[in-house]
Amino acid sequence: MNQALSKIIQLELEKLENGSQSLEETTNAIQSLMPQAEAQPFLIKSTQHVAGTAMSTEQRLDALKNAGYNVFHVGENTGVLVDFLTDSGTGSMSDKQWAALMQATEWYAGSKSFLEFENAFKEVCGNEFTILPAHQGRSAESTFLEALKKAGIVKENQKIVFNTAFDTTHGWVTNITGHAPENLYCEAYEKPLDHDAPFKGNLEPNRLKERIAQGGVGAVFLTITNNTSGGQPVSLENIQATRQICDANHVPLFFDACRFAENAYFIQQKEPGQNQKTIRDIVRDMFSYVDGATFSAKKDAKANIGGAILIRNGFAGDKVAYHAKTLTIMRDGFISYGGLAGRDLEITAQGLRETTQEDYLRQRVGQVQYLHRLLHAAGVPLVHPCGGHAVYVDAREFLDGVPEDQYRGWTLSLALFAKYGIRGVEIGDVMYAKKDGNGKRLAPAKNDFLRLAIPRLTYASEHMLYTAACFADFSKRRKELSSGVRITGNFENNGFDHFFARFEPVDPENFRQTLLT
Ligand code: F0G
Repeated sequence: MNQALSKIIQLELEKLENGSQSLEETTNAIQSLMPQAEAQPFLIKSTQHVAGTAMSTEQRLDALKNAGYNVFHVGENTGVLVDFLTDSGTGSMSDKQWAALMQATEWYAGSKSFLEFENAFKEVCGNEFTILPAHQGRSAESTFLEALKKAGIVKENQKIVFNTAFDTTHGWVTNITGHAPENLYCEAYEKPLDHDAPFKGNLEPNRLKERIAQGGVGAVFLTITNNTSGGQPVSLENIQATRQICDANHVPLFFDACRFAENAYFIQQKEPGQNQKTIRDIVRDMFSYVDGATFSAKKDAKANIGGAILIRNGFAGDKVAYHAKTLTIMRDGFISYGGLAGRDLEITAQGLRETTQEDYLRQRVGQVQYLHRLLHAAGVPLVHPCGGHAVYVDAREFLDGVPEDQYRGWTLSLALFAKYGIRGVEIGDVMYAKKDGNGKRLAPAKNDFLRLAIPRLTYASEHMLYTAACFADFSKRRKELSSGVRITGNFENNGFDHFFARFEPVDPENFRQTLLT
């Protein structure tokens, strides 16, 4: 049997032996650890060699030092073996996407590739939208938000309300409206670790009613799935309830639709009365409640680059569409390509058709859930339940030997990379904690997570097993890590420090020895 799997099964057997788990619980737990019994709905036709296996921890530690102890500055040549930094633009394309790429026409205007793009969105999301290409999600956001402002939908002094806004969205909302977005997440979201609610991405309707009653809300956005809370979905019921409140108050509703297909899959699987519907039916249903959406093709279109803006025909007398079109032309290019090549448009069109198939989504979300089950069995503290695109590890608890103000999530990202070649990303104190001008933590962020985001169709079950075995191995040693990191440079306290800041271990000897043994 696979060595990694047997290690984790051993942990389950230990729970049986020490009486903390019944025989039935142990049997069920072990069954859930077996690689997915279902045959995966694809063949592997092409592979890419990864250099990371050739590197030792020693070499990776050197690489980390050169990179200022920041995993955004290590890469293929410095020992990344399994890359869970992001699921955005990192997936594998299908044969049909590659074939579509070859059939693209690279015309400035009137290309059949734009028609493919437009038709795919209409087929999947609904016929009643104007579709504008954008070069990725964040450019779609900036154009769309500015168009809302120019069209007078979001007025001076009005705010935009979200379930939770992703960081680029947060940035653009603040930049364009002059006010940070307000996040009106539901109660379950407050308890990331110990609450198994199925739709933790929901916006809380009562909070929305109260907030709108206070005045000054220009628009409402639902991020599906909700990246900030672990890729948690929003239920159809919540979308409907939000729409009703918006209608009653004449406020428009939009999606940040980056992971709309994964959201639809959760609705099909978890929401009462939805499991007889196809994914396509559910997606249509979801989009029937919104006036528009921004989208990153790098997620649920399985493209390496691309994005889109969807605006309901006739919405606000088509003024938003007008402004979005002119802004697109000024920034990204004509509305028939929006900063993309024809081949990118074709890839997105084909990708949308594929990611809205149930067998694809079962494998996709199933693989993320598989890693979640394995890590849970290995005793790793996680966000529950598992979301659609990533597994979130609670570094605050996992590295509780490291002083709390020494950036535990960040430290875990370094340890995982140096020791095992696995790259995750901190979503915690470095990104969100309150700090002084030198990067010293003054107050903690709400959570200190390490996110393991799984690229689509790129890694095998063995990579999930390898990752879980590494965590099981490191679990034994985690208490020996008694020091974390401090920020030493390139620090601006501007929300982008995770990309640029340099760090160093507070106790280099302890850091090195724990990782080398
Ligand atoms: N909205 C959400 C919910 C996202 O997760 C992202 C990107 C964006 C908007 C921006 O899209 O990257 O195409 O410009 N998330 C990536 C991530 C970067 O790693 O979660 P983009």
